[in-house]
Amino acid sequence: MVQHPAKVALITGAARRVGATLAKRLHSAGYNIVLHYNHSADDAERLAAELNQQRSGSVCLIQADLNDMQAVQSLAVDALASWERIDLLINNASAFYPTPLTQSSQDQWDELINSNLRAPYFLCAALADALTVNHGNIINLIDIHAQRGLPGYPIYSIAKAGLQMLTYSLAKELAPNVRVNGVSPGPILWPENAAAQTEAEQTAILEKTLLKRTGSADDLADAVLYLSQAGYVTGQVIAVDGGKSLYSH
Ligand SMILES: NC(=O)c1ccc[n+]([C@@H]2O[C@H](COP(=O)([O-])OP(=O)(O)OC[C@H]3O[C@@H](n4cnc5c(N)ncnc54)[C@H](OP(=O)(O)O)[C@@H]3O)[C@@H](O)[C@H]2O)c1
Repeated sequence: MVQHPAKVALITGAARRVGATLAKRLHSAGYNIVLHYNHSADDAERLAAELNQQRSGSVCLIQADLNDMQAVQSLAVDALASWERIDLLINNASAFYPTPLTQSSQDQWDELINSNLRAPYFLCAALADALTVNHGNIINLIDIHAQRGLPGYPIYSIAKAGLQMLTYSLAKELAPNVRVNGVSPGPILWPENAAAQTEAEQTAILEKTLLKRTGSADDLADAVLYLSQAGYVTGQVIAVDGGKSLYSH
């Protein structure tokens, strides 16, 4: 019997949090995973070891800082070289912190735009031919605030709005062979570090969802798995936000 080679997914920022859940879910669905990380080497190695124990030789790791264009190009080349194919690109990596307008710097502009918009664009470009060969697809992790900017986070909001337009635009550019879609999370996992909120702020955010609770990384994985298989869906963005984008009072 002919053995079909496993499909390959490249997931950026996949060592922890949402990216790690997406890697586990796609791995369970039979994908080999190119697991990209930047600083979280220990988490990435732990996750790769766990998944490789389930299926030997099914996960490889690539480190890259998406602020570095040469590293972005090498990421695409090395990801493709891992199993000589790419079927799914998930642009998940993202810098996220507030940038009040009058206190924002050009370095912050670069860092927020690079990980959320520039790197996804050039990864799509570098992998377009390989994705075309396999009738693959691209899924971008956007944000419901791409539509209505998040107060205090103008650069991040601009970057995610760009990623949403990238989704629509590249769906046209890469048709008919490659589908390009997005998932826009609402409150799923609370941010860390500079973007961390108080409990009162978190409660106020959840009050503005219809479902009155956070979602989970698994809710995002459900949407990603659906889009990865949805053969007649392209240029669409699914909000996984507990109804937050509909909330009106
Ligand atoms: N969590 C939510 O509730 C929520 C809400 C709205 C939108 N989203 C979107 O959903 C996606 C996943 O969310 P998340 O909360 O899991 O993300 P996250 O933890 O904030 O970030 C994911 C990863 O991005 C990587 N990253 C950041 N800057 C990078 C750079 N310059 N080069 C390479 N990697 C970089 C980091 O990798 P290392 O740790 O390896 O450095 C980080 O672990 C993101 O696109 C986010 O914007 C999430």
